[in-house]
Amino acid sequence: MRYLTFALAKGRLAKKSLDMFEKIGITCEEMKDKDSRKLIFTNEELGMRFFLAKASDVPTYVEYGAADIGIVGRDTILEEGRKLYEVLDLKTGNCRMCVCGPESAGELLKHHERIRVATKYPAIAKDYFYNRKHQTVEIIKLNGSVELAPIVGLSEVIVDIVETGTTLKENGLAVLEEICPLSARVVVNQVSMKRENERIGRLIQDLRDLVQEENS
Ligand code: PRP
Repeated sequence: MRYLTFALAKGRLAKKSLDMFEKIGITCEEMKDKDSRKLIFTNEELGMRFFLAKASDVPTYVEYGAADIGIVGRDTILEEGRKLYEVLDLKTGNCRMCVCGPESAGELLKHHERIRVATKYPAIAKDYFYNRKHQTVEIIKLNGSVELAPIVGLSEVIVDIVETGTTLKENGLAVLEEICPLSARVVVNQVSMKRENERIGRLIQDLRDLVQEENS
């Protein structure tokens, strides 16, 4: 039997997705060993393999079929714009993509000023400002701690993920506009979906039942 290969986004989502797999009878003991430097883990009985990848690489592995299934945040799916099927909302890792900044920047947004927008998500920011708001802005790509940008004067606003809002609050910033809700999603390679329809279909159904149970 061909292995079914899973790519899981490293970080907060990984633990949550592994917990969910465990609840539907898919375990991978090897993966829990935090000290291990191994990159890929196999469960021979189930005919499954799992690996952790940088979140932004998960859609790439899935599009090319190096992984049949991926678990990754909707932020990454939108940003990467890869060809894949998004099949299930795991309703975990819930947060929002927002335009944030000091309260004073609200006026600049309202008047469609040509402002600078710092973000780890240039594609999402571009789509929002150009296609939804029809506002011309300058987008500056950063790789982390984006909240710094308006504080030190790199940009007027940021486009970033807001979960609890603590980071914003502690830095004197606020949500100015909401772009979209986010959560962890299951994505599937388009060819795998046909070739492994039965195995993948069953797995998705089990996950769907679990999500329903946990959210009812
Ligand atoms: C994310 C996001 C915000 C923060 C939001 O950053 O970019 O900075 O979490 O969470 P909160 O609303 O609960 O405070 P992450 O921890 O992934 O780090 P990075 O931005 O430095 O990559």
